[in-house]
Amino acid sequence: MNNYFSIKDIDSLDNWVNEAIELKKTPLSNKMLGVDKTIGLLFFNPSLRTRLSTQKAALNLGMNVIVMNFTGEGWSLEYGDGTVMDQGNSEHVKEAAQVVSQYCDVLAIRAFAKLENREEDYEEKVMKSFIKYASIPVINMESATGHPLQALTDAITITEHKPTYRPKIVLSWAPHPKALPQAVANSFVEIAQQMEADFVITHPVGFELASQITNEVPIDYNQEHALKDADFVYVKNWSSYNDYGKSSQDQHWKITEEKMKLTNNAKFMHCLPVRRNVVVDDTVIDSENSIVIEQANNRTYAAQLVLKKILEKS
Ligand code: CP
Repeated sequence: MNNYFSIKDIDSLDNWVNEAIELKKTPLSNKMLGVDKTIGLLFFNPSLRTRLSTQKAALNLGMNVIVMNFTGEGWSLEYGDGTVMDQGNSEHVKEAAQVVSQYCDVLAIRAFAKLENREEDYEEKVMKSFIKYASIPVINMESATGHPLQALTDAITITEHKPTYRPKIVLSWAPHPKALPQAVANSFVEIAQQMEADFVITHPVGFELASQITNEVPIDYNQEHALKDADFVYVKNWSSYNDYGKSSQDQHWKITEEKMKLTNNAKFMHCLPVRRNVVVDDTVIDSENSIVIEQANNRTYAAQLVLKKILEKS
């Protein structure tokens, strides 16, 4: 594996999940693999979990870590070919990616959707430009359309809590005061389709994800009906794909204790950060069925597995 750009870079989900679960038992067992190697983490957007868990994963493998926040600190980058750079952008990604490749052995990048132009976001200009011009492997730490480290984490967490029978997994849209990208939901939908589970998506009319991602996954516009007998309830807000970037704060879609009673004593999952009492009631996220903290812990092992595979190949 050269880059970890999307779920499609996972050759066998079962093998990866099992390997990550093994890594979690002895996280320092490959401490020499990354000695004298450096990972550069470039952030064009804020983070808590991704930033710290990816650093932790790299440290567990013996790597050095360099972190840079582009917002407010880096030169603003130009991505267009042949652009006359007489406006705001100071440096072209062609130079930036090649320069960073000389300082690091692996690059990881976070660059969210701008939610202004769907075609531009779904072109993945930032991530794909770095992949094109960098001479080192690139890891996606959440791009405009996907968050594959989060999705791998989610698959690990679900596997750890899986009942002996085929579980029902529900991805539920929830309200949010800000328009959020579809990245987390997209990658979760992609990975859930590869799991041995009955998978249902529930959201209000108008919040359909891209059909090339949802494929044949059933969509239920009745949240309470969808939640019935669920074993896992994965909650996430996303803005509209069709009416691109439109958001909603419809509180009828908030996850409540009453709604969780419709489930099969389901585990509550969320990638975090979460707006308490907007997305989910305190009584749910603080309940013993909430596995959000464990889920966040697994971010380290998902990142460590991806890094390990990249280091083993290089
Ligand atoms: N879930 C996730 O990616 O968290 P951060 O935005 O804090 O990194």
